[in-house]
Formats: sequence, structure tokens, C-alpha cells
Amino acid sequence: MKSVKEQTVSRGLEGVVAAETDISFVDGANSQLYYKGYNIHDIAEHNASFSEIIYLLLYSEFPTNNELRAFRRRIISEMRVPTQVITMMELLPPSTPPMTVLRSAVSTLASFDPDGDDNSLEASEHKGVRLIAQIPTLVMSLYRIRNNLNILSPDPTLTVTSNILYMLHGKVPDERYINAMDLLLMLHADHGLNASTFAARVTASTRSDIHSAVTSAIGTLKGPLHGGANERVMSMLKDIIDISEVEEYIDSLLAQGQRVMGFGHRVYKKEDPRARHLRRMSEELCTLRGNKKLFDISHRIENIVLKKKGIYPNVDFYSATVQHALGIPDDFFTAIFAIARTPGWVAHILEQYRDNRLIRPTSKYIGLYNREYIPVEKRMKEQEGA
Ligand code: ACO
Repeated sequence: MKSVKEQTVSRGLEGVVAAETDISFVDGANSQLYYKGYNIHDIAEHNASFSEIIYLLLYSEFPTNNELRAFRRRIISEMRVPTQVITMMELLPPSTPPMTVLRSAVSTLASFDPDGDDNSLEASEHKGVRLIAQIPTLVMSLYRIRNNLNILSPDPTLTVTSNILYMLHGKVPDERYINAMDLLLMLHADHGLNASTFAARVTASTRSDIHSAVTSAIGTLKGPLHGGANERVMSMLKDIIDISEVEEYIDSLLAQGQRVMGFGHRVYKKEDPRARHLRRMSEELCTLRGNKKLFDISHRIENIVLKKKGIYPNVDFYSATVQHALGIPDDFFTAIFAIARTPGWVAHILEQYRDNRLIRPTSKYIGLYNREYIPVEKRMKEQEGA
């Protein structure tokens, strides 16, 4: 074993390989992302639905038509959440950020789950699919509570994605918005050992239950350096009144040593492959809504940040304008990300359970040594004498 002095620390665990996975491959060097071996560009071009992606991540293959229909029925039948959890959300102060409510609500769901404390693989799969189904209901219900609207139950004749938009806006959405939402959810569904997935796997590795692991993941996703960046992107876009102000605005942020939200990535040093599709969708939706201003400002920010800092937009950057165009309020952006990432978390938690070893890294000690214990009476006398 190395002496403490010889130990090297990888700050932020950069470059550390902490797990084996067959769920997704983030090929940072080539700016590619694969789900179970399928390139996301290929999936995006074929307009795969969110249900297909959930199925792929959990069961390693795309479903046949019959399998997809049955799986969709299963998800929709699991979408109901106990009224006690809805009441709990209603009781929280209305200023509570949606991700904070979601974190508490998911933790509370554990007490009502029919599989209870059974943490076998089979029960965890049931609980995982239930969480994938219930998290959208929690988020949409919170939106409706906050807007004094009645909470809607899922419509079994609709797809999972249509239901998510239906339970938000109260009407069956236009096909183009459903496709945009499918793309958004698909692109956020998994991403290797990102911070929230790592948090989920650490919790799962102690053999704790899947609700605890997903709660850890939600708390981690919430941070502005991870999923919380999308909401901050929108506030930056709203701060910029006119496209002519972009350069000055970015210069001023950088001069103050601040980060431009939605830019940079630990693994991708060039294009984030997800940004390409979100950029296209952002332009399409902003045009469809007859207001391209936010897209144009975004595109200008992208060019300026690339020119000045050499960094590229990540998944959070154009997802902000896509979500905005879908009628999602800014403070719900990260919760939508959580809906999309839950299948990835669940797949990783189950993968961890299947071949578990406690995740427990070590730290390099940089503190003091061999300090002498001074009894409390003496300490007080010394302080008084000082
Ligand atoms: N704006 C300005 N400068 C940046 C940015 C940014 N968005 N991102 C990185 N940099 C700079 C840093 O200042 C640093 O420069 P320095 O070496 O001169 O100090 C250099 O690039 C390296 O940055 P690190 O923080 O070491 O890179 P790391 O891999 O740890 O960080 C992160 C990645 C956290 C995503 C970072 O790029 C960032 O803070 N981005 C803004 C927040 C954001 O968009 N998060 C969402 C990421 S995607 C996701 O989680 C879903």
C-alpha cells in the first residue's frame, strides 16, 4: 500500500473507472453516445418513442410491437400515485423548488409501494418500473397543484409521452409536440456514470432499496453543475433582451469568472452529440411557435462561447428552449430531466444489484497528526487566559 504522501488524488474522480456497465457508452473522444450499442443519432433519426427507450435500457432489446403495447399498458397502469403523497406535496410551501418536492415525494412513495421492503431483484424491477411510471405523475400533479388546476389521471388510450403532456396541459397534444417530447426524453435517458447515476449506484451498493437510490440520484441531479443547469440557461436567455447584447453579456460573465450555464462537459471536449438534436428541435419548435428570438439568442451564445472559451454546449443548453416551447415552466425543467433519467437510474441500480460490491473509495489525508488531547477544563482556562 502506498504511503499517504505517494497517494495521488483524482479531483472529481476524473478518469477513474468505477464500474462496468453495458447500458450506455459515452464515447467522449468521438462525441458519440450509445444506448445498449445503438447510436443515439440513429435512434433520434427514427423517432423512437420514450417507451421503446425505457424497454431497451431495462431489457437490452427494442420491443416488438406486441411487447411495446403490453409494456406501455404496464407503465400507464402503474402511473397512479397514492393520495397521501399528493397531500404531502400540497402541504409543502409553494415556494419549494419542484426538485425538492420530487426528492421528498419519491422517498415517501417507498412507504406505499406494494413490494414494500422486498429488495430482491424481482421486487426491485417491479418498484423500478413503478417509479418510472409514477415520477411523471408526481411532477405533472405538482404543476397542476401549483396552478390551482385539477389533477388528471393518465388516459390508457394515449402513449406514455402523450400522457405526460396531457397530464400537464390537460389536452391531447399535437403530434409535433409529442415527437419533440419523445426526442427530449430519449436524449436524457442515460449517460454512463454521470454524477446522479453514480450517486444512485453508491446507494444501491450498500444494498439499500431502489427508492433510496433514486432519491439520492434526484438530490444529485438537482445541482446547477448537473441537471439544474437547464433552468439557469433559461434565466440567462431571459436576462438578454436583444441579440445585440449577447457578446457583452458573455464577456461580463467570463470576466467575473462565472460559468456559462449549459456549456462544458467532463467527458465531451467537443460536441455533445445530444446537443445537435436539441439544437435542431429548438429551432423547429421556436419557429412553430412563431418566436425564434430565444433560439437566435441561444445560437449566438453558442458561437460566442465557442470563440472565446473553446467550449461547446451540453445537453442542458438547447433543452431549455425545447422545454420552454413545450410549455413547461422554467422551474420544472430539471424535474422533466428527472423523468427522462429515471429509466437510466433504474437500469444502473438493477445492474449494480446483479453484481454488487460496496462502492467505497478512499481519501488522502491532509490534516494534522498526533495532536495532544487537552481536557476540557484546561482548554477553558487557556482560552480565558488568552
Ligand atoms: N463556463 C465557463 N468556463 C467553463 C465552463 C463553463 N460552462 N465549463 C468549464 N469551464 C472552464 C473552467 O473554468 C475551467 O477553466 P480553468 O481551467 O481555466 O479554471 C475549465 O473549463 C475546466 O473546467 P472544470 O470545472 O475543471 O471541468 P469539469 O469537467 O470539472 O466540469 C462541468 C464540467 C461541471 C459540466 C462544467 O463544464 C460546468 O460547470 N458547466 C456549467 C454547468 C453545466 O452546464 N452543467 C451541466 C453539465 S451536463 C449535465 O450534467 C447533464
